[in-house]
Amino acid sequence: MAMKNYTLKIQEIRKETKDTITLCFKQPGLRKIKYQAGQYLTLSLQINGRKYTRPYSFSSSPLVDSLLETTIKRIPDGIFSNHIHDTIQVGDMVEVMEPMGDFVHVTNETINRIYFWGVGSGITPLLSILKEVLISNPLVQVNLIYGNKNFESTIFLDTINQLLVQYESQLKVWHFHTQYTHDKKNHFVKCGRINQEFILHLLKDVVIEKTAHYICGPVDLKNTIKEALAVLECPKATIFSEDFELVKNPKDFEDILTQHVNIRFQGNDTLVEVLKGKSILESALDAGIELPYSCQTGSCNTCKGKLKEGNMRMIGLTKERKDLKKEDYLLCCSHPLTDDVCVEI
Ligand SMILES: Cc1cc2nc3c(=O)[nH]c(=O)nc-3n(C[C@H](O)[C@H](O)[C@H](O)COP(=O)(O)OP(=O)(O)OC[C@H]3O[C@@H](n4cnc5c(N)ncnc54)[C@H](O)[C@@H]3O)c2cc1C
Ligand code: FES
Repeated sequence: MAMKNYTLKIQEIRKETKDTITLCFKQPGLRKIKYQAGQYLTLSLQINGRKYTRPYSFSSSPLVDSLLETTIKRIPDGIFSNHIHDTIQVGDMVEVMEPMGDFVHVTNETINRIYFWGVGSGITPLLSILKEVLISNPLVQVNLIYGNKNFESTIFLDTINQLLVQYESQLKVWHFHTQYTHDKKNHFVKCGRINQEFILHLLKDVVIEKTAHYICGPVDLKNTIKEALAVLECPKATIFSEDFELVKNPKDFEDILTQHVNIRFQGNDTLVEVLKGKSILESALDAGIELPYSCQTGSCNTCKGKLKEGNMRMIGLTKERKDLKKEDYLLCCSHPLTDDVCVEI
């Protein structure tokens, strides 16, 4: 099915912390964009004569906010995030793809407590879902456990504090600070990283089958939470996580060599050098072939191609993909195993 694209106007830019801003897009006049809390918007921009595309989770929630909001943290040396921070202004038009993503609130009537686990910019989809749950599920106890350096670098601190007042009996928030300043009065601020001991203690008296967990942050956070939940025998069906980046294990690349790959796109064949460690998608983009893509983490399918000849392997997929046929490959995670690979997209 063809992907719908939109051009959206930036109505407001909000500074959240020293290195994070929120872009607030105006909804189009006619074709309003529908999305689910926790999904993401894919932005495309021309930077130094080349088109770059990056996904950003909604920090807004369709039930609460009228603008479409995405919150972007500056990544050291990151091409797209720095370009946004340094050049984008109110009134600019930005090309976006239709919302995507399956990190959304799954309604389940047996759940009476939801736990949101986040670190840094991982708060964006969590806040989107959290706002929706608070407004639409008043009987569900909502807990946010949020790791940052300190309060100055905590994205959405004011919003979270307002929600704490508005939903006093429904919402609880714990902050974990690696640059901790001791505050005797506030036992909701903890020192260090979110850790297993805390998780086991927090969940010790709850009926684990009645809890749901949403995780977004670095891979260490995801592993810590999932390991602790496994100790507590939490059902896997109520644990959801979102990955902002693909974590590559060098071991998986031991038998991969630099190869040439024939890429068939829009009826044209181009032979592209794919360096060891680079995905076929990255190599095609470097060669000026504008293949479609979004997440670059093997979850959205936008870069799906068909293997016509040769052998290749997908590396780094975090989710099991039973929906892919034998010849289907996500090119953002694909690496050639032979020197005769031909792939069509
Ligand atoms: C589904 C999804 C949702 C996302 N939502 C958000 C969001 O809400 N807010 C947000 O700021 N970013 C979000 N991202 C990350 C975003 O898409 C970009 O990857 C990020 O802005 C870096 O892009 P860049 O062009 O600046 O860096 P690049 O030039 O592409 O890369 C620089 C390096 O930074 C690494 N990197 C990417 N993301 C991070 C990170 N978060 N922390 C540390 N290193 C990183 C990359 O692996 C790469 O090695 C999301 C990613 C995905 C897949
Ligand atoms: S770009 Fe999303 S699966 Fe490859």
